[in-house]
Amino acid sequence: VKGIRAEGTPATINPSIRKNEEKVVDNVPIAELSKPITPYCRCWRSQTFPLCDGSHVKHNKATGDNVGPLLLKK
Ligand code: FES
Repeated sequence: VKGIRAEGTPATINPSIRKNEEKVVDNVPIAELSKPITPYCRCWRSQTFPLCDGSHVKHNKATGDNVGPLLLKK
């Protein structure tokens, strides 16, 4: 049953992003970054995944987690 885990089974990290893919992988050549600093999502809650949209703030407040983006700098 979806959403039910056996005891001791680790939870999934990705709640909803591109679940039709076997593995979510993104390739971004550094030279193609559009900004001097580009934040990439590591919380799997962004509506603009793989880019961070600030959704980690709400996630952290709701769960007590401490996740934040990966900042790629040109
Ligand atoms: Fe996921 Fe910011 S929205 S790290």
